[in-house]
Amino acid sequence: MKSTFWDRFAKSYDKNSSINEELLNLIRSYSMPDFEVLEIGTATGEMILSLAPYFAKGIGIDYSEMMIKEAEKKIKPDNITFKVEDATNLSFADESFDLIFTISTLHVINPLEDVLTSIHRVLKQKGTFIAIVPIVNHNWFKAQFEKSVMKSLKFNNYDVEEYISCFEECHFMILDHFTSIDKKSEIFIIKR
Ligand SMILES: C[S@@+](CC[C@H](N)C(=O)[O-])C[C@H]1O[C@@H](n2cnc3c(N)ncnc32)[C@H](O)[C@@H]1O
Repeated sequence: MKSTFWDRFAKSYDKNSSINEELLNLIRSYSMPDFEVLEIGTATGEMILSLAPYFAKGIGIDYSEMMIKEAEKKIKPDNITFKVEDATNLSFADESFDLIFTISTLHVINPLEDVLTSIHRVLKQKGTFIAIVPIVNHNWFKAQFEKSVMKSLKFNNYDVEEYISCFEECHFMILDHFTSIDKKSEIFIIKR
């Protein structure tokens, strides 16, 4: 999927999404005041901006220039930076981050192994990676519809077990995983 696909959603992105308090509190609970934090697929930056008081330095990356342009328009604390970057080829030095998180983004990146390898490289030895991925609807009919939409957009359509295999193949260790309260996402707590 080209970055320009996402550019067209940038201007209206915040109108169609809101901060998920469960995810905010969860990520916050893994953060420390001295941490350097990276968000993969930050879009217009809402989540990392909301988390800014809870770490030392945060970087939000997205490969859509328009998304980052919208993020840059917002009031930004000094400890937050936004960058246009492809998650499959991150420019940061090895072992740069204490905490990396990504929400609703891994399923749109192909191949998944490339982004996981990149995240593994820039995560510190004892760092934490929080991966939040959408899961298909529990209702069979809605699930079939969602799967066909995902397929037509060439998004990954992995189930939880397939994600676990991918994380393990990329040398990550899964500490825990569970379904979000709204049952729309699976949350993986991962170590290097
Ligand atoms: C479905 S949106 C999710 C955005 C945000 N995390 C959220 O929860 O609303 C996926 C985002 O991933 C970005 N993205 C897709 N492929 C990417 C890649 N290879 N590198 C960096 N960002 C990417 C898109 O531009 C888009 O902003």
